[in-house]
Amino acid sequence: MADKKAQLTVDGLDDSIELPVYSGSTGPDVIDVRALTGKGFFTYDPGFVSTASCESKITYIDGGKGMLLHRGYAIEDLAEKSDYLETCFLLLHGELPSQKEYDEFVSIIRNHTMVHESIARFFRGFHHDSHPMAMMCGIVGALSAFYHDSLDITNERHRIISAHRLIAKMPTLAAMCYKHSQGQPFMYPDNKLGYSENFLHMMFGTPCDDPQVNPVLARAMDKIFLLHADHEQNASTSTVRLAGSSGANPFACIASGIATLWGPAHGGANEAVLSMLQEIGDVKNIDKFIQRAKDKDDPFRLMGFGHRVYKNFDPRAKVMKETCDEVLSVLGIENDPLLAIAKRLEEIALEDEYFIKKKLYPNVDFYSGIIMKAIGIPTDMFTVIFATGRTVGWIAHWHEMLTEDYRIGRPRQLYTGETKRDLTAVEDRKPANPTF
Ligand code: CMC
Repeated sequence: MADKKAQLTVDGLDDSIELPVYSGSTGPDVIDVRALTGKGFFTYDPGFVSTASCESKITYIDGGKGMLLHRGYAIEDLAEKSDYLETCFLLLHGELPSQKEYDEFVSIIRNHTMVHESIARFFRGFHHDSHPMAMMCGIVGALSAFYHDSLDITNERHRIISAHRLIAKMPTLAAMCYKHSQGQPFMYPDNKLGYSENFLHMMFGTPCDDPQVNPVLARAMDKIFLLHADHEQNASTSTVRLAGSSGANPFACIASGIATLWGPAHGGANEAVLSMLQEIGDVKNIDKFIQRAKDKDDPFRLMGFGHRVYKNFDPRAKVMKETCDEVLSVLGIENDPLLAIAKRLEEIALEDEYFIKKKLYPNVDFYSGIIMKAIGIPTDMFTVIFATGRTVGWIAHWHEMLTEDYRIGRPRQLYTGETKRDLTAVEDRKPANPTF
């Protein structure tokens, strides 16, 4: 129901157009522009800076305050008092589980951790130096070929089974990517272990040597998954919703989310941060890179800085920084040179007029790479880990969309190309001179 109304006047139109304005439970009001198409107009908003693409009850971000809530719970509280699987339950079902519900959920996820043996053969088709995100896009999409029994998207039971399968199998597949790149045998999941502990076991154990996972590192890994679990209508989640709106199956939708996440402006930034810190190499080189980031003619950007929504500290970055300190201290890494560069870079950027004016603060990707590197995870696996944590968010949004009134996502455009013209015979044409 519209709480308020907006009037839009357009040059050349006699009457103004009345548009309903909705208020959410919090956050900016939203003008419903759907009536505009009937009046001969589209709205124009490249990058969806001012567009609410859907109604959602899952996650709320107040970018000005640096606040992130999942189903009303602050990310800092979840990181401190909850764990990844509990947060998965919360995102999927809307409430925190009772003890019994939690135990059941954990047990269901454990029962789905293995993947079909044919998936191992599928992996072997990839070259040993394939980027793990390339493998993940292919493998996760391919899962739809294995689970015909649960692909009816109109069936709620099928949807939840697919959700469980995806959450449970992502760490297994992620670890398989790593093992494939190392030429080591795949490790089966050990269902006596917790979710994140199991992931580290599959990453670093081998059939001849399967050391016990350090509980502090397992907890840090769990926090990394939890901090990436959802972030409302970001590029990959919007992609998953768009793919899902056509009726595509959940594995295909999540594969589309993984592909979108890969870009360096999105999830690929964690890999880019570490490359950048390594390129800076020494605290004494920081100024040069800050100058480059500020230079309009230089495409270089400080990776791990800035966010479309946060115009204040990304709350996930604060938790990540604390976790980073904890992990390095447990591992006895007293003077990590990359951490020293990162901390100094942050200090300088936070005092610099350019970054202050543009409200550019460290985001979730700024410290996560240092933690993962310390744990022994190679740089090209960072975005895979982001994708593993984010899978629940993608699935929660996909499921939410399917339970509500939705239509296929189909944006329009401001067309500025040629208008109708006659086709000329090839011998009469001038060279086209393509520019790309
Ligand atoms: N370094 C230097 N300048 C920057 C940076 C940066 N990291 N980020 C933004 N700016 C400048 C940008 O040049 C622009 O300046 P001007 O107004 O003079 O043209 C202004 O700040 C606004 O930037 P924008 O690109 O219009 O903002 P956006 O909302 O479209 O992009 C962003 C957001 C995250 C893509 C961008 O800040 C960026 O490229 N950051 C580095 C990559 C990164 O860390 N990405 C991870 C995001 S968090 C995790 C996730 O979402 O996956």
